[in-house]
Amino acid sequence: MKVGVLGSGDVGKTLGSGFLQHGHDVTMGTHSPAKLADWAKQHPKGRVGSFSDAAKFGELVVLAVKGTAAPDVLRAANATNLAGKPVIDATNPIADAPPTNGVLKFFTNLDESLLERLQREFGNVRFVKAFNSVGHACMVNPQFKGGKPTMFMCGNDEPAKKTVRGILDQFGWEPVDMGKAEAARAIEPLCMLWCIPGFLRNEWSHAFKLLT
Ligand SMILES: NC(=O)c1ccc[n+]([C@@H]2O[C@H](COP(=O)([O-])OP(=O)(O)OC[C@H]3O[C@@H](n4cnc5c(N)ncnc54)[C@H](OP(=O)(O)O)[C@@H]3O)[C@@H](O)[C@H]2O)c1
Repeated sequence: MKVGVLGSGDVGKTLGSGFLQHGHDVTMGTHSPAKLADWAKQHPKGRVGSFSDAAKFGELVVLAVKGTAAPDVLRAANATNLAGKPVIDATNPIADAPPTNGVLKFFTNLDESLLERLQREFGNVRFVKAFNSVGHACMVNPQFKGGKPTMFMCGNDEPAKKTVRGILDQFGWEPVDMGKAEAARAIEPLCMLWCIPGFLRNEWSHAFKLLT
């Protein structure tokens, strides 16, 4: 697939590399191309452009920017470039405040997730929450003694979720679909839980597994 990755941070770079590794075409989007200079050197097949370039390029788009900046970045990407496309939303609504005893602060609440806010503002974009509940280092081809980890996902559009399930399978995850956009109220705070062992004990190598 042609994949546009919005984001020049660890998540954007890791997923951009992962898509290339798995045979997709990638354009990375950023306001700051210099931040992707090393990535571009390491990935001669990948392209770097503006948020709008990446959104236009992608049949599938990945949103991997700071949660507080997500609406602005989507506006910069231009809604018409994203209309009707599946957009993997890997963001978390982390507030600009330090964690308390290892627990991150969010700017959303349990009755409204960031994904729902984005879905409401950008109604013709097919958002699918995924990749937000694990650290970037484990996002592509995760290896755990406990077996294949679970990636919780949700979104309102079934064909878009089918596309994302395919990507998660390819990247080595067991996708578990938790339903519509409201499920992001539960999936986004998994990021808080995932980070606690990191902040308290500097343990960052784990993932969730749903046992049945
Ligand atoms: N780091 C992880 O392991 C991890 C794991 C799961 C989920 N997440 C979530 O994934 C997202 C990306 O995380 P990250 O660690 O890769 O990087 P990040 O530092 O949270 O975000 C970097 C990206 O956000 C954009 N950005 C930041 N501030 C902005 C502003 N004020 N206006 C416009 N754009 C702005 C940057 O734009 P430029 O490209 O123009 O600089 C860059 O593309 C976050 O929502 C994070 O919570 C992170």
